[in-house]
Amino acid sequence: MRDVAIIGVSQTKFGELWDVSFRDMITEAGLGAIEDAGVEGADLEAMYVGNMSAGLFIKQEHISSLIADHAGLTPIPSTRVEAACASGGLALRSGIMAVASGYHDIVISAGVEKMTDVVDPTPAIATASDQEWEAQQGVTFPSLYAMMARRHMYEYGTTREQLAMVSVINHENASNNPRAQFPMKVTVEQVINSTMVADPLRLLDCSPISDGAAAVILCPAEMAREYTDTPVYVKASAQASGTIALHDRRSITRIDATVNAARSAFKMADLTPGDIDLVEVHDCFSINGILAVEDLGFFEKGEGGRAFEEGMTRIDGEIPVNPSGGLKARGHPLGATGIAQAAEVVWQLRGEAGKRQVEGAEIGMTHNIGGTGGTAAVHIFSR
Ligand code: COA
Repeated sequence: MRDVAIIGVSQTKFGELWDVSFRDMITEAGLGAIEDAGVEGADLEAMYVGNMSAGLFIKQEHISSLIADHAGLTPIPSTRVEAACASGGLALRSGIMAVASGYHDIVISAGVEKMTDVVDPTPAIATASDQEWEAQQGVTFPSLYAMMARRHMYEYGTTREQLAMVSVINHENASNNPRAQFPMKVTVEQVINSTMVADPLRLLDCSPISDGAAAVILCPAEMAREYTDTPVYVKASAQASGTIALHDRRSITRIDATVNAARSAFKMADLTPGDIDLVEVHDCFSINGILAVEDLGFFEKGEGGRAFEEGMTRIDGEIPVNPSGGLKARGHPLGATGIAQAAEVVWQLRGEAGKRQVEGAEIGMTHNIGGTGGTAAVHIFSR
């Protein structure tokens, strides 16, 4: 196995992008990463694209061919990777494995979703839950995460205000991210008084419906300095599966796939949570920010809410969480999220994150999950 480096990254602005088509969005992200890496399109040997559901959102399947064609990259192998909201994380992992194995040298891993073109995206997103046991009974993702939040409040005394702090900190960070969908700051009072979505989760506890794309260029670590003075190295790429439906779990206040992927990643990198300088977590709803910092090992189970409340997850805190603004405020175009998380960590490790820079960041982590935790991808990167 070869060591792998990231030599270029890019992310489009996330938001409701009426004037950009699906194919132009992913091409913009891809070209941005190619330019950032200083490679030529002709150098690319393979492409992996994370996408949850172009079929449901824009009625287009076979996007692997569509993108290679539109970007002028035929005949390189182009592969779509799908694992609901973890599609991007798995596209990244597929690219890493292709380079590590020696199959390819220069690879592009990207992610894209255009969600705002359908009138009601909620049933489309719900297809990532268990159809028979969840979606067909009327359950949606906000309601699944609401059940997890209620149970966490019951078991650990997590408060409504602590949940709100996850959003407050994310929006604070997003206010310094020009690519973020919702860069406005919000207060605890605004979160807990925003429109009810699924009790106890309100509008400002939820990640939005987003359009966007992101891309990274990978190559063998030994080649990286031919292209850049600031390569970022992949220290670990881990993936784990969990039950798709909540009722099959021994507990709904912990996501086993996160626990298992994190365990593998720390083992692979020979690191512990104390070594991580910043983490981009999958906070699709405020409760998942809390579950993530617990399940990744940064705080004891039940202590996540207090960690956000006491500011331990702020950019200057004990463990900076989501300097980008996270899914909540940067936005969550499902298939693009895992790649956008990696792009943010790369900018942070290169010292290029501007006002949201985590000072002296050397090691960063990403955490991307599908559904309520049926899939988890955890990556660790170093300068
Ligand atoms: N955070 C902050 N503001 C938001 C928002 C969010 N998540 N979602 C929408 N808004 C704002 C809009 O900009 C709009 O503001 P305006 O009136 O000033 O223009 C207003 O709230 C209403 O927007 P609208 O698009 O009508 O919202 P909605 O009620 O249709 O959708 C949610 C809101 C929370 C239901 C929707 O964003 C959602 O389903 N999120 C979860 C997505 C999801 O499940 N992802 C997968 C996770 S596993």
